[in-house]
Amino acid sequence: MTKYVISGGRPLFGEVEISGAKNAAVAIIPAALLVDGVCRLENIPQISDVTICLKLLEQLGAQIRSINPHTVEIDCRHIRSTRTSYDLPCRIRASYYLIGALLGRFGTAEVAMPGGCNFGGPRPIDQHIKGFTAMGAQVFTAEGGFIHASTESGRLKGASIYLDVVSVGATINIMMAAALAEGNTVIDNAAKEPHIVDLANFLNSMGANIRGAGTDTIKIQGVDRLSGGTYAIIPDQIEAGTYMAAVAATGGQVLIKNIIPKHMDCITAKLLECGVEVEQQDDTLLVRRSSPLKRTNVKTLPYPGFPTDMQPQMTTVLTLAQGTSLVTESVWSSRYRYVDELKRMGAKIQVDDKTAIVEGVDHLTGAPLQASDLRAGAALVIAALAAHGVSEITQIYYVERGYENIVGKLRALGADIRLVEEPDQPGLTGMGVS
Ligand code: EPU
Repeated sequence: MTKYVISGGRPLFGEVEISGAKNAAVAIIPAALLVDGVCRLENIPQISDVTICLKLLEQLGAQIRSINPHTVEIDCRHIRSTRTSYDLPCRIRASYYLIGALLGRFGTAEVAMPGGCNFGGPRPIDQHIKGFTAMGAQVFTAEGGFIHASTESGRLKGASIYLDVVSVGATINIMMAAALAEGNTVIDNAAKEPHIVDLANFLNSMGANIRGAGTDTIKIQGVDRLSGGTYAIIPDQIEAGTYMAAVAATGGQVLIKNIIPKHMDCITAKLLECGVEVEQQDDTLLVRRSSPLKRTNVKTLPYPGFPTDMQPQMTTVLTLAQGTSLVTESVWSSRYRYVDELKRMGAKIQVDDKTAIVEGVDHLTGAPLQASDLRAGAALVIAALAAHGVSEITQIYYVERGYENIVGKLRALGADIRLVEEPDQPGLTGMGVS
C-alpha cells in the first residue's frame, strides 16, 4: 500500500511547472490510431492514465517509441487488431475513444466497457452511440462486457448530430469517427472544453478538416487519409487550478508556470471572489493569499463555466472561508463522495442532492483519509496541506492517474508531503477500477 503522509499548516511558496493536459492526452493518443503515419506527441504528462492509453495502443499493434519522458512517437501504420483486451480498458474512462478512432479508421471496433472515476452515479454513453449510429454504424453494447461497433461498407458516412447533453466524451468520439468519414458531419450542442479544441488542432495538423471546435457547432469534412506529424499537447487547466486552490487553502505565494491564461479565467474568477490575488503574466499566473478567505457560491457548468473537475478542490477551499458558501454540481448527478472525508477533518458541509452547503471553519485537523476518485484525492491533498497536524491519505493511485509528480512539485513549494510505501495487508489490496 502506498500513501501520502502530509504534515499540514505550511503556506506554499515558489514556482510550479504545469504538465500536459491529461484529458487532452488521453484523447489525442487514441486519435493517433486514425493516422497512417508517425505522430510525434510532445508535452505528454507522465501519469498512469497515459501509460494505460499507450499500452492499449501497443496491444492493437501500434509501435510506440519514447523519445524522452514527455515525448513519444506513435506509429499506427501496422495495426493488427481492432479488438482490445478486457482488463486495460476497464481501468480508464478514455478507453471509449478507441471506439471512435478504430471505427473511423477501420470501420469496426470491439472495445471493453470503459472504467473511470466512480462518482456514485451513472456515466452513460448513449450520445456517443447516437453519433456512431447516425454515421451508419451498428453498435451493440451488451456482448460479454464489450462494445461492438461496425459498418457494412467499412467507412462511416458524415451526418448531422445534435447532442442531447453537452458531452465532452461524445463530442471527442464523434469528431474522431468523422475525421475519415465520407462526406460532412456537423455536431450541434458540442462541448467546448480546451481539450476538444486541442484534439481538433491535432487532427487538423495531421490533415483533417475540422472547423468550429470551441463553439457549439463543429463541422467536419471527412478526408481520405491522415498523415503523421509533430504536435504538442496543451497545459493542464485542472492541474493548474488544483495548485491555485492549494495556495488559496494554505496561504503563501506561488508562480504557476506553463498555463494558457484564457483556460484559467473560470477558476481565477472564483478565487478572486474569495479574496485570493491572481496576477496574469504571459503564460504564468502569480497566486497569492495573505488575508482570510471570503465565502462565495460556485456552480459547475460545461466550459467556459466553472469546471466540475475543480469542484472538490474548490469546496475544500470554501471549508476554510468566512461564512457559508453554496456549491452546486450540475454536470454530474453526484460528485460528493469526498465530503465525508473532509468532515473527519472538522469541515462543516451538508449535502442536499446536488448542492453542498459549506459553513466555513477556522481550521481543519489532520486525519486518516481515503481518496475515492482522482479529483476527490486532489481535494484531500489540499485539505491535508492546510490542516493542523498530520494526515495520511490512502488509495492514492487515483491521484497518480492525473497529477504528474505531485509529491515532488508540492515539496518544491515547501509542503511537508511524503510518499510512504507499506507492505500490503492481505485482503485489503487491489487497484480496482480507477
Ligand atoms: N452524458 C450522457 N450521455 C452520454 C455522455 C454523457 O448523459 O452519452 C452526461 C453525463 O452523465 C454527465 C454529462 O453528460 O452528466 C457530462 O459528461 P461528459 O460526457 O462530458 O463526461 P466524460 O466525457 O465522461 C470528461 C472528463 C471528466 C469530466 C467530464 C466533464 C475525460 C477522460 N473525462 O468525462 O474528467 O468530469 O468530461 O467535464 O476527459 C477528471 O478528469 O477527473 C474527469 C472525471
